[in-house]
Amino acid sequence: MLCLSVKEFLFWKKKQLSKGGDQESFAVLLECLGGISISELNLLIINPDRKLYLKKNLDFLESIWEIHLSKSCPIQYLCGITYWRDLKLKVTNKVLIPRSETELIVDIVFNIFGKISKKLFFAELGTGSGAISIALALAYPLWDGIATDIDQDALEIATQNYINSSKHSNLKFYRGDWWTPLESFKGKLDLAISNPPYIPTNTYENLPKEVKNFEPKIALLGGEDGLKHLREIIQKAPLFLKEKGWLILENHFDQGEKVKQLLIKNKFTLIEIVNDFSGIGRFTIGRYK
Ligand SMILES: C[S@@+](CC[C@H](N)C(=O)[O-])C[C@H]1O[C@@H](n2cnc3c(N)ncnc32)[C@H](O)[C@@H]1O
Repeated sequence: MLCLSVKEFLFWKKKQLSKGGDQESFAVLLECLGGISISELNLLIINPDRKLYLKKNLDFLESIWEIHLSKSCPIQYLCGITYWRDLKLKVTNKVLIPRSETELIVDIVFNIFGKISKKLFFAELGTGSGAISIALALAYPLWDGIATDIDQDALEIATQNYINSSKHSNLKFYRGDWWTPLESFKGKLDLAISNPPYIPTNTYENLPKEVKNFEPKIALLGGEDGLKHLREIIQKAPLFLKEKGWLILENHFDQGEKVKQLLIKNKFTLIEIVNDFSGIGRFTIGRYK
């Protein structure tokens, strides 16, 4: 534990941020490795002569910040942790860092189902770090969920995140290609969710370094037009959803209309393109008949 004055710390913080990077990444570094949150810091700033305690010394934190800047490695991978909604999740470069816009999927579920206590059965296809499924399993302890992924490493991280976040056992993890692990649940799902890889091949080449060089390709690439996985998920969804079961999908910024057409073609109703915080049609949802 390192003890220093708030004044000394603020001087050091300013120096680090002058080297580059953004406030949010720096906040992740401070919270994950330094053990101090921005809200705690804001309270201390009122009195710069007070003392502040850090879990690691400044040289260590500085060295991580410099690796982040020089290699463009996401700070979440360097710290091994990310924050998503109210969850603290383990992440390695085997899983996509769950994005803040994806947090809205949980709100879409709240809007559709409210805070009902009724038992429901949901599945998430391509769970990655487990973020979406874990948030739902915690919000709805009476629901049962299955989170799947094709990647064993991702499933292990997701399982660990669930164990660390919940005392319940209403979420199971299965490995396999999209609907394959759910063969024995045909016609049984009230809700299916997926944020599949949807980046078109050409766009992938131009992704920022911190994404292209570090995040798993399998979590990003969606084939030539980006719709390869979305197409497969939508086409088979009617086999697995109950009548009036919901499908919630995340898509690339310009795919909403195409995903909507795919849902219409596969007999979905009440189809809606839902905007993210930036006004982008990021989610497409529909009900099976
Ligand atoms: C965009 S990431 C989403 C991860 C997480 N759900 C999130 O929102 O942060 C897509 C996930 O789909 C998984 N995936 C890719 N191809 C798959 C397939 N054929 N079957 C099942 N999962 C797949 C990847 O391993 C990755 O974890």
